[in-house]
Amino acid sequence: MADKKATLTLPGEAPIELDVLKGTLGQEEIDVRSLGSQGYFTFDPGFTSTASCESKITYIDGDEGILLHRGFPIDQLALHSNYLEVCYILLNGEAPTKAQFEEFRTIVTRHTMIHEQIHHLFRGFRRDSHPMAVMCGVTGALAAFYHDAMDVNIERHREIAAFRLLSKMPTVAAMCYKYSIGQPFVYPRNDLSYAGNFLNMMFSTPCEEYVVNPILERAMDRILILHADHEQNASTSTVRTAGSSGANPFACIAAGIASLWGPAHGGANEACLRMLEEISNVEHIPEFLKRAKDKNDSFRLMGFGHRVYKNYDPRATVMRETCHEVLNELGMKDDLLEVAMELEHIALNDPYFIERKLYPNVDFYSGIILKAMGIPSSMFTVIFAMARTVGWIAHWKEMHDDGVKIARPRQLYTGYDKRDFKSETAE
Ligand code: CMC
Repeated sequence: MADKKATLTLPGEAPIELDVLKGTLGQEEIDVRSLGSQGYFTFDPGFTSTASCESKITYIDGDEGILLHRGFPIDQLALHSNYLEVCYILLNGEAPTKAQFEEFRTIVTRHTMIHEQIHHLFRGFRRDSHPMAVMCGVTGALAAFYHDAMDVNIERHREIAAFRLLSKMPTVAAMCYKYSIGQPFVYPRNDLSYAGNFLNMMFSTPCEEYVVNPILERAMDRILILHADHEQNASTSTVRTAGSSGANPFACIAAGIASLWGPAHGGANEACLRMLEEISNVEHIPEFLKRAKDKNDSFRLMGFGHRVYKNYDPRATVMRETCHEVLNELGMKDDLLEVAMELEHIALNDPYFIERKLYPNVDFYSGIILKAMGIPSSMFTVIFAMARTVGWIAHWKEMHDDGVKIARPRQLYTGYDKRDFKSETAE
Protein backbone atom coordinates (compact mmCIF):
# COMPACT_ATOMS: atom_id res chain seq x y z
CA MET A 1 0.00 0.00 0.00
CA ALA A 2 1.26 3.46 -0.83
CA ASP A 3 1.42 5.96 2.03
CA LYS A 4 0.19 8.82 -0.09
CA LYS A 5 -3.13 8.98 -1.95
CA ALA A 6 -4.44 11.24 -4.67
CA THR A 7 -8.14 11.87 -5.06
CA LEU A 8 -9.74 12.26 -8.45
CA THR A 9 -12.97 14.18 -8.27
CA LEU A 10 -15.41 14.01 -11.18
CA PRO A 11 -18.67 15.98 -11.19
CA GLY A 12 -21.59 14.00 -9.75
CA GLU A 13 -19.49 10.94 -8.88
CA ALA A 14 -17.90 9.54 -5.77
CA PRO A 15 -14.22 10.57 -5.46
CA ILE A 16 -11.74 7.98 -6.72
CA GLU A 17 -8.70 7.31 -4.53
CA LEU A 18 -5.46 6.57 -6.31
CA ASP A 19 -2.13 5.44 -4.83
CA VAL A 20 0.85 7.76 -5.26
CA LEU A 21 3.95 5.66 -5.90
CA LYS A 22 7.52 6.65 -5.12
CA GLY A 23 10.55 4.96 -6.64
CA THR A 24 14.06 5.16 -5.16
CA LEU A 25 14.72 8.29 -7.24
CA GLY A 26 12.60 10.58 -9.39
CA GLN A 27 9.17 12.08 -9.19
CA GLU A 28 6.09 10.54 -7.62
CA GLU A 29 3.71 8.69 -9.91
CA ILE A 30 -0.05 8.36 -9.67
CA ASP A 31 -1.12 4.75 -10.06
CA VAL A 32 -4.04 4.90 -12.51
CA ARG A 33 -4.36 1.14 -13.06
CA SER A 34 -7.71 0.93 -11.28
CA LEU A 35 -9.29 3.71 -13.38
CA GLY A 36 -10.19 1.47 -16.35
CA SER A 37 -12.43 -0.71 -14.21
CA GLN A 38 -14.09 2.48 -12.92
CA GLY A 39 -15.02 3.66 -16.42
CA TYR A 40 -12.14 6.02 -17.25
CA PHE A 41 -8.90 5.88 -19.20
CA THR A 42 -6.09 8.43 -19.05
CA PHE A 43 -5.06 10.23 -22.25
CA ASP A 44 -1.35 10.84 -22.87
CA PRO A 45 -0.19 10.51 -26.50
CA GLY A 46 3.59 10.43 -26.72
CA PHE A 47 3.76 9.29 -23.06
CA THR A 48 4.82 12.75 -21.91
CA SER A 49 3.54 12.10 -18.38
CA THR A 50 3.17 8.35 -18.24
CA ALA A 51 5.48 5.71 -16.79
CA SER A 52 5.00 2.53 -18.82
CA CYS A 53 6.80 0.12 -16.51
CA GLU A 54 8.85 -0.35 -13.36
CA SER A 55 12.61 -0.67 -13.94
CA LYS A 56 15.87 -0.89 -11.97
CA ILE A 57 18.26 -0.42 -14.89
CA THR A 58 18.72 3.27 -15.74
CA TYR A 59 17.77 6.54 -14.10
CA ILE A 60 17.74 9.97 -15.77
CA ASP A 61 17.23 13.32 -14.08
CA GLY A 62 16.68 15.51 -17.12
CA ASP A 63 16.67 18.79 -15.18
CA GLU A 64 19.98 18.09 -13.48
CA GLY A 65 21.56 16.35 -16.49
CA ILE A 66 22.13 13.09 -14.58
CA LEU A 67 22.28 9.62 -16.14
CA LEU A 68 22.87 6.57 -13.93
CA HIS A 69 23.19 2.94 -14.99
CA ARG A 70 22.38 0.68 -12.03
CA GLY A 71 23.27 3.72 -9.91
CA PHE A 72 26.67 4.40 -11.53
CA PRO A 73 27.05 7.87 -13.17
CA ILE A 74 27.61 7.74 -16.93
CA ASP A 75 30.71 9.99 -16.82
CA GLN A 76 32.42 7.62 -14.34
CA LEU A 77 31.54 4.63 -16.50
CA ALA A 78 32.73 6.38 -19.68
CA LEU A 79 36.05 7.37 -18.11
CA HIS A 80 36.85 4.37 -15.88
CA SER A 81 35.08 1.38 -17.35
CA ASN A 82 34.79 -0.32 -20.72
CA TYR A 83 31.80 -1.22 -22.86
CA LEU A 84 31.70 -4.92 -21.95
CA GLU A 85 31.86 -4.12 -18.25
CA VAL A 86 28.98 -1.65 -18.71
CA CYS A 87 27.08 -4.43 -20.53
CA TYR A 88 27.65 -6.72 -17.55
CA ILE A 89 26.41 -4.01 -15.18
CA LEU A 90 23.30 -3.30 -17.26
CA LEU A 91 22.42 -6.97 -17.60
CA ASN A 92 23.30 -8.13 -14.09
CA GLY A 93 22.79 -5.13 -11.85
CA GLU A 94 26.21 -5.13 -10.16
CA ALA A 95 29.78 -4.39 -11.21
CA PRO A 96 31.56 -7.69 -11.95
CA THR A 97 34.48 -9.16 -10.03
CA LYS A 98 37.56 -9.90 -12.14
CA ALA A 99 36.56 -13.56 -12.48
CA GLN A 100 32.96 -12.73 -13.39
CA PHE A 101 34.13 -10.23 -15.99
CA GLU A 102 36.58 -12.71 -17.53
CA GLU A 103 33.87 -15.33 -17.84
CA PHE A 104 31.45 -12.80 -19.36
CA ARG A 105 34.05 -11.53 -21.83
CA THR A 106 35.01 -15.05 -22.86
CA ILE A 107 31.40 -15.99 -23.59
CA VAL A 108 30.73 -12.81 -25.60
CA THR A 109 34.00 -13.18 -27.52
CA ARG A 110 33.39 -16.84 -28.38
CA HIS A 111 29.99 -16.25 -29.98
CA THR A 112 30.79 -13.48 -32.44
CA MET A 113 30.54 -15.55 -35.63
CA ILE A 114 27.19 -15.72 -37.34
CA HIS A 115 25.67 -18.59 -39.28
CA GLU A 116 27.47 -18.86 -42.61
CA GLN A 117 24.18 -18.96 -44.51
CA ILE A 118 23.51 -15.36 -43.47
CA HIS A 119 26.13 -14.39 -46.07
CA HIS A 120 23.64 -15.52 -48.72
CA LEU A 121 20.87 -13.54 -47.08
CA PHE A 122 22.92 -10.35 -47.48
CA ARG A 123 23.18 -10.98 -51.20
CA GLY A 124 19.41 -10.55 -51.51
CA PHE A 125 19.76 -6.87 -50.62
CA ARG A 126 20.67 -4.18 -53.11
CA ARG A 127 24.18 -2.85 -52.45
CA ASP A 128 22.83 0.70 -52.24
CA SER A 129 20.27 -0.17 -49.52
CA HIS A 130 20.53 1.91 -46.37
CA PRO A 131 22.60 -0.15 -43.87
CA MET A 132 19.85 0.33 -41.25
CA ALA A 133 17.36 -1.37 -43.60
CA VAL A 134 19.79 -4.27 -44.01
CA MET A 135 20.57 -4.46 -40.28
CA CYS A 136 16.88 -4.50 -39.41
CA GLY A 137 16.20 -7.29 -41.90
CA VAL A 138 19.22 -9.41 -40.99
CA THR A 139 18.63 -9.09 -37.23
CA GLY A 140 15.01 -10.19 -37.66
CA ALA A 141 16.22 -13.09 -39.79
CA LEU A 142 18.53 -14.28 -36.98
CA ALA A 143 15.33 -15.59 -35.37
CA ALA A 144 15.22 -18.17 -38.14
CA PHE A 145 18.82 -19.26 -37.52
CA TYR A 146 18.93 -19.46 -33.73
CA HIS A 147 15.68 -21.12 -32.71
CA ASP A 148 17.16 -23.91 -30.61
CA ALA A 149 16.82 -22.03 -27.30
CA MET A 150 13.83 -19.81 -27.83
CA ASP A 151 11.35 -20.37 -25.06
CA VAL A 152 11.19 -16.87 -23.60
CA ASN A 153 9.64 -18.33 -20.42
CA ILE A 154 12.88 -20.18 -19.62
CA GLU A 155 15.48 -17.99 -17.91
CA ARG A 156 18.45 -19.89 -19.39
CA HIS A 157 17.04 -19.42 -22.91
CA ARG A 158 16.70 -15.69 -22.31
CA GLU A 159 20.32 -15.60 -21.17
CA ILE A 160 21.49 -17.45 -24.30
CA ALA A 161 19.54 -15.00 -26.50
CA ALA A 162 21.16 -12.08 -24.66
CA PHE A 163 24.69 -13.43 -25.22
CA ARG A 164 24.00 -14.21 -28.85
CA LEU A 165 22.70 -10.73 -29.57
CA LEU A 166 25.49 -8.97 -27.72
CA SER A 167 28.17 -11.09 -29.41
CA LYS A 168 26.83 -11.06 -32.94
CA MET A 169 25.61 -7.50 -33.39
CA PRO A 170 29.06 -6.01 -34.22
CA THR A 171 29.52 -8.77 -36.82
CA VAL A 172 26.15 -7.93 -38.40
CA ALA A 173 26.85 -4.17 -38.25
CA ALA A 174 30.28 -4.49 -39.92
CA MET A 175 28.83 -6.85 -42.56
CA CYS A 176 26.22 -4.19 -43.42
CA TYR A 177 29.09 -1.79 -44.13
CA LYS A 178 31.27 -4.22 -46.08
CA TYR A 179 28.30 -5.25 -48.19
CA SER A 180 27.45 -1.63 -49.00
CA ILE A 181 30.97 -0.95 -50.34
CA GLY A 182 31.36 -4.28 -52.12
CA GLN A 183 34.23 -5.59 -49.99
CA PRO A 184 34.48 -9.13 -48.61
CA PHE A 185 33.08 -9.76 -45.16
CA VAL A 186 35.74 -9.91 -42.43
CA TYR A 187 35.37 -12.62 -39.80
CA PRO A 188 35.55 -11.63 -36.11
CA ARG A 189 38.85 -11.95 -34.24
CA ASN A 190 38.77 -13.24 -30.69
CA ASP A 191 42.12 -11.69 -29.73
CA LEU A 192 40.74 -8.15 -30.06
CA SER A 193 38.56 -6.10 -27.72
CA TYR A 194 34.84 -5.62 -28.49
CA ALA A 195 35.51 -2.19 -30.06
CA GLY A 196 38.83 -3.28 -31.65
CA ASN A 197 37.20 -6.31 -33.24
CA PHE A 198 34.43 -4.12 -34.66
CA LEU A 199 36.94 -1.64 -36.15
CA ASN A 200 38.91 -4.55 -37.62
CA MET A 201 35.79 -6.03 -39.22
CA MET A 202 34.97 -2.58 -40.62
CA PHE A 203 38.37 -1.61 -42.00
CA SER A 204 40.59 -4.62 -42.61
CA THR A 205 40.73 -6.29 -46.01
CA PRO A 206 42.36 -9.54 -47.14
CA CYS A 207 45.03 -7.47 -48.91
CA GLU A 208 46.79 -5.91 -45.96
CA GLU A 209 46.99 -6.03 -42.22
CA TYR A 210 44.93 -3.49 -40.32
CA VAL A 211 46.35 -2.29 -37.03
CA VAL A 212 43.76 -0.97 -34.60
CA ASN A 213 44.70 2.51 -33.36
CA PRO A 214 44.30 2.41 -29.54
CA ILE A 215 42.95 6.00 -29.38
CA LEU A 216 40.28 5.21 -31.96
CA GLU A 217 39.55 1.91 -30.23
CA ARG A 218 39.02 3.77 -26.94
CA ALA A 219 36.88 6.40 -28.67
CA MET A 220 34.70 3.69 -30.25
CA ASP A 221 34.40 1.98 -26.87
CA ARG A 222 33.26 5.30 -25.35
CA ILE A 223 30.71 5.86 -28.09
CA LEU A 224 29.34 2.39 -27.32
CA ILE A 225 29.22 3.11 -23.56
CA LEU A 226 27.47 6.45 -24.08
CA HIS A 227 24.77 4.85 -26.23
CA ALA A 228 24.33 1.64 -24.21
CA ASP A 229 21.03 2.47 -22.54
CA HIS A 230 18.67 5.37 -21.96
CA GLU A 231 15.67 3.98 -20.06
CA GLN A 232 12.24 4.02 -21.74
CA ASN A 233 13.04 5.83 -25.01
CA ALA A 234 11.08 5.07 -28.21
CA SER A 235 13.15 2.08 -29.35
CA THR A 236 13.41 0.50 -25.88
CA SER A 237 9.68 0.93 -25.38
CA THR A 238 9.21 -0.66 -28.81
CA VAL A 239 11.32 -3.67 -27.78
CA ARG A 240 9.35 -4.00 -24.54
CA THR A 241 6.02 -3.70 -26.37
CA ALA A 242 7.01 -6.24 -29.02
CA GLY A 243 8.40 -8.57 -26.34
CA SER A 244 5.33 -8.27 -24.12
CA SER A 245 3.47 -10.69 -26.41
CA GLY A 246 6.20 -13.32 -25.89
CA ALA A 247 7.71 -12.61 -29.32
CA ASN A 248 11.11 -13.92 -30.40
CA PRO A 249 13.97 -11.75 -29.00
CA PHE A 250 15.75 -11.30 -32.35
CA ALA A 251 12.45 -10.07 -33.84
CA CYS A 252 12.00 -7.71 -30.87
CA ILE A 253 15.49 -6.25 -31.36
CA ALA A 254 14.72 -5.82 -35.09
CA ALA A 255 11.65 -3.81 -34.02
CA GLY A 256 13.91 -1.67 -31.80
CA ILE A 257 16.26 -1.07 -34.73
CA ALA A 258 13.32 0.06 -36.87
CA SER A 259 12.22 2.54 -34.23
CA LEU A 260 15.76 3.82 -33.65
CA TRP A 261 16.18 4.63 -37.35
CA GLY A 262 13.89 7.68 -37.22
CA PRO A 263 15.55 11.14 -37.36
CA ALA A 264 13.91 12.21 -34.09
CA HIS A 265 15.68 9.29 -32.35
CA GLY A 266 18.85 7.44 -33.41
CA GLY A 267 18.81 8.84 -36.93
CA ALA A 268 19.66 12.26 -35.47
CA ASN A 269 23.45 11.74 -35.57
CA GLU A 270 23.34 11.16 -39.32
CA ALA A 271 20.93 14.07 -39.76
CA CYS A 272 23.14 16.27 -37.54
CA LEU A 273 26.22 15.67 -39.67
CA ARG A 274 24.21 16.37 -42.83
CA MET A 275 23.02 19.61 -41.22
CA LEU A 276 26.59 20.67 -40.28
CA GLU A 277 27.69 19.93 -43.85
CA GLU A 278 24.80 22.00 -45.15
CA ILE A 279 25.69 24.91 -42.86
CA SER A 280 29.33 24.35 -43.95
CA ASN A 281 30.57 27.74 -42.74
CA VAL A 282 30.14 29.68 -39.48
CA GLU A 283 28.85 32.63 -41.51
CA HIS A 284 25.75 30.64 -42.46
CA ILE A 285 24.78 29.84 -38.84
CA PRO A 286 22.41 32.81 -38.29
CA GLU A 287 20.39 31.83 -41.36
CA PHE A 288 19.95 28.25 -40.07
CA LEU A 289 19.11 29.43 -36.56
CA LYS A 290 16.41 31.64 -38.04
CA ARG A 291 14.96 28.65 -39.85
CA ALA A 292 15.08 26.51 -36.66
CA LYS A 293 12.99 29.12 -34.85
CA ASP A 294 10.47 29.61 -37.66
CA LYS A 295 7.28 27.67 -36.89
CA ASN A 296 6.42 27.58 -40.61
CA ASP A 297 9.69 25.82 -41.40
CA SER A 298 10.01 22.13 -40.52
CA PHE A 299 13.80 22.51 -40.07
CA ARG A 300 15.06 21.74 -36.57
CA LEU A 301 18.55 22.05 -35.20
CA MET A 302 19.58 18.39 -35.22
CA GLY A 303 21.56 17.25 -32.20
CA PHE A 304 19.70 19.80 -30.06
CA GLY A 305 16.90 19.22 -27.59
CA HIS A 306 15.71 16.14 -25.78
CA ARG A 307 12.40 14.88 -24.43
CA VAL A 308 13.96 14.21 -21.01
CA TYR A 309 17.07 16.41 -20.71
CA LYS A 310 16.25 20.02 -20.03
CA ASN A 311 19.90 20.60 -19.25
CA TYR A 312 23.21 19.63 -20.87
CA ASP A 313 23.06 15.97 -21.94
CA PRO A 314 25.81 14.42 -19.72
CA ARG A 315 26.75 12.14 -22.61
CA ALA A 316 27.39 15.17 -24.85
CA THR A 317 30.04 16.48 -22.42
CA VAL A 318 32.11 13.26 -22.64
CA MET A 319 31.49 13.04 -26.36
CA ARG A 320 32.83 16.56 -26.85
CA GLU A 321 36.13 15.68 -25.08
CA THR A 322 36.45 12.45 -27.04
CA CYS A 323 35.88 14.39 -30.24
CA HIS A 324 38.86 16.63 -29.51
CA GLU A 325 41.04 13.63 -28.56
CA VAL A 326 40.26 11.85 -31.82
CA LEU A 327 40.84 14.90 -34.01
CA ASN A 328 44.16 15.58 -32.22
CA GLU A 329 45.27 11.99 -32.65
CA LEU A 330 44.45 12.04 -36.33
CA GLY A 331 45.97 15.51 -36.72
CA MET A 332 42.75 16.71 -38.27
CA LYS A 333 41.30 20.16 -38.21
CA ASP A 334 37.68 19.69 -39.00
CA ASP A 335 35.71 22.64 -40.38
CA LEU A 336 32.53 20.92 -39.27
CA LEU A 337 33.79 20.85 -35.69
CA GLU A 338 34.35 24.58 -35.93
CA VAL A 339 30.79 25.03 -37.21
CA ALA A 340 29.52 22.75 -34.42
CA MET A 341 31.37 24.69 -31.67
CA GLU A 342 30.15 28.03 -32.94
CA LEU A 343 26.59 26.77 -33.42
CA GLU A 344 26.62 25.43 -29.87
CA HIS A 345 27.94 28.73 -28.54
CA ILE A 346 25.39 30.87 -30.39
CA ALA A 347 22.41 28.59 -29.64
CA LEU A 348 23.26 28.37 -25.93
CA ASN A 349 23.11 32.15 -25.74
CA ASP A 350 19.95 32.56 -27.80
CA PRO A 351 16.70 33.26 -25.86
CA TYR A 352 14.72 30.81 -28.06
CA PHE A 353 16.94 27.90 -26.99
CA ILE A 354 17.36 29.13 -23.41
CA GLU A 355 13.59 29.47 -22.83
CA ARG A 356 12.89 26.02 -24.27
CA LYS A 357 15.86 24.47 -22.46
CA LEU A 358 17.33 23.13 -25.69
CA TYR A 359 20.90 21.88 -25.18
CA PRO A 360 23.21 19.79 -27.37
CA ASN A 361 22.45 16.09 -27.04
CA VAL A 362 24.67 13.01 -27.49
CA ASP A 363 24.31 13.09 -31.26
CA PHE A 364 25.74 16.55 -31.65
CA TYR A 365 29.39 15.38 -31.45
CA SER A 366 29.23 11.65 -32.17
CA GLY A 367 28.86 12.21 -35.93
CA ILE A 368 32.06 14.27 -36.10
CA ILE A 369 34.02 11.56 -34.25
CA LEU A 370 32.68 8.79 -36.46
CA LYS A 371 33.35 10.81 -39.61
CA ALA A 372 36.94 11.42 -38.49
CA MET A 373 37.35 7.66 -38.02
CA GLY A 374 36.40 7.18 -41.65
CA ILE A 375 32.91 5.87 -40.99
CA PRO A 376 30.26 7.06 -43.48
CA SER A 377 27.21 8.82 -42.07
CA SER A 378 24.85 6.05 -43.24
CA MET A 379 26.56 3.79 -40.66
CA PHE A 380 26.11 6.15 -37.68
CA THR A 381 22.71 4.83 -36.63
CA VAL A 382 23.89 1.25 -37.20
CA ILE A 383 26.63 1.84 -34.61
CA PHE A 384 24.06 3.38 -32.26
CA ALA A 385 21.90 0.25 -32.71
CA MET A 386 24.87 -2.01 -32.03
CA ALA A 387 25.63 -0.09 -28.82
CA ARG A 388 21.98 0.08 -27.71
CA THR A 389 21.40 -3.65 -28.22
CA VAL A 390 22.57 -4.32 -24.66
CA GLY A 391 20.08 -1.78 -23.29
CA TRP A 392 17.27 -3.34 -25.30
CA ILE A 393 18.18 -6.83 -24.09
CA ALA A 394 18.53 -5.68 -20.47
CA HIS A 395 15.01 -4.22 -20.59
CA TRP A 396 13.60 -7.22 -22.47
CA LYS A 397 15.13 -9.55 -19.85
CA GLU A 398 13.96 -7.44 -16.93
CA MET A 399 10.43 -7.41 -18.33
CA HIS A 400 10.35 -11.21 -18.59
CA ASP A 401 12.16 -11.74 -15.27
CA ASP A 402 9.54 -9.59 -13.51
CA GLY A 403 6.53 -11.23 -15.20
CA VAL A 404 5.13 -9.49 -18.23
CA LYS A 405 1.64 -8.25 -19.05
CA ILE A 406 0.95 -7.68 -22.75
CA ALA A 407 1.17 -3.99 -23.65
CA ARG A 408 -2.23 -2.82 -24.85
CA PRO A 409 -2.81 0.93 -24.71
CA ARG A 410 -6.30 2.38 -25.10
CA GLN A 411 -7.34 5.34 -27.26
CA LEU A 412 -9.54 8.39 -27.45
CA TYR A 413 -11.79 7.47 -30.37
CA THR A 414 -12.70 10.47 -32.54
CA GLY A 415 -14.00 8.65 -35.64
CA TYR A 416 -17.56 8.08 -36.85
CA ASP A 417 -20.36 6.91 -34.59
CA LYS A 418 -21.97 3.61 -35.62
CA ARG A 419 -23.57 3.91 -39.09
CA ASP A 420 -25.12 1.50 -41.60
CA PHE A 421 -23.09 0.26 -44.51
CA LYS A 422 -24.63 0.35 -47.96
CA SER A 423 -22.34 -0.72 -50.79
CA GLU A 424 -21.97 1.75 -53.65
CA THR A 425 -20.04 -0.79 -55.69
CA ALA A 426 -22.23 -3.91 -55.38
CA GLU A 427 -23.82 -4.91 -58.69
N1 CMC B 1 15.39 22.88 -32.97
C1 CMC B 1 14.51 23.90 -32.87
N2 CMC B 1 13.48 23.91 -32.02
C2 CMC B 1 13.29 22.82 -31.25
C3 CMC B 1 14.15 21.73 -31.30
C4 CMC B 1 15.24 21.76 -32.21
N3 CMC B 1 16.10 20.75 -32.29
N4 CMC B 1 13.74 20.77 -30.43
C5 CMC B 1 12.64 21.27 -29.84
N5 CMC B 1 12.38 22.50 -30.34
C6 CMC B 1 11.28 23.41 -29.90
C7 CMC B 1 9.94 22.95 -30.47
O1 CMC B 1 9.68 23.56 -31.72
C8 CMC B 1 9.00 23.42 -29.38
O2 CMC B 1 8.83 24.83 -29.52
P1 CMC B 1 7.40 25.50 -29.10
O3 CMC B 1 7.26 25.24 -27.63
O4 CMC B 1 7.57 26.93 -29.46
O5 CMC B 1 6.35 24.80 -29.94
C9 CMC B 1 9.79 23.17 -28.09
O6 CMC B 1 11.17 23.27 -28.48
C10 CMC B 1 9.53 21.82 -27.44
O7 CMC B 1 9.77 20.81 -28.43
P2 CMC B 1 8.99 19.44 -28.52
O8 CMC B 1 8.98 18.95 -29.93
O9 CMC B 1 7.68 19.53 -27.81
O10 CMC B 1 9.94 18.51 -27.66
P3 CMC B 1 9.94 16.95 -27.65
O11 CMC B 1 10.32 16.55 -26.28
O12 CMC B 1 8.66 16.38 -28.18
O13 CMC B 1 11.08 16.57 -28.70
C11 CMC B 1 13.12 15.94 -29.68
C12 CMC B 1 12.35 16.12 -28.38
C13 CMC B 1 14.46 15.25 -29.39
C14 CMC B 1 12.33 15.02 -30.65
C15 CMC B 1 13.35 17.32 -30.34
O14 CMC B 1 14.06 18.17 -29.46
C16 CMC B 1 14.06 17.24 -31.69
O15 CMC B 1 13.42 16.99 -32.71
N6 CMC B 1 15.44 17.41 -31.69
C17 CMC B 1 16.20 17.27 -32.90
C18 CMC B 1 16.43 15.80 -33.18
C19 CMC B 1 17.47 15.19 -32.27
O16 CMC B 1 18.55 15.73 -32.07
N7 CMC B 1 17.15 13.99 -31.72
C20 CMC B 1 18.07 13.21 -30.91
C21 CMC B 1 17.62 13.02 -29.51
S1 CMC B 1 18.95 12.38 -28.51
C22 CMC B 1 19.21 10.78 -29.10
C23 CMC B 1 18.18 9.85 -28.63
O17 CMC B 1 18.05 9.64 -27.41
O18 CMC B 1 17.49 9.28 -29.49
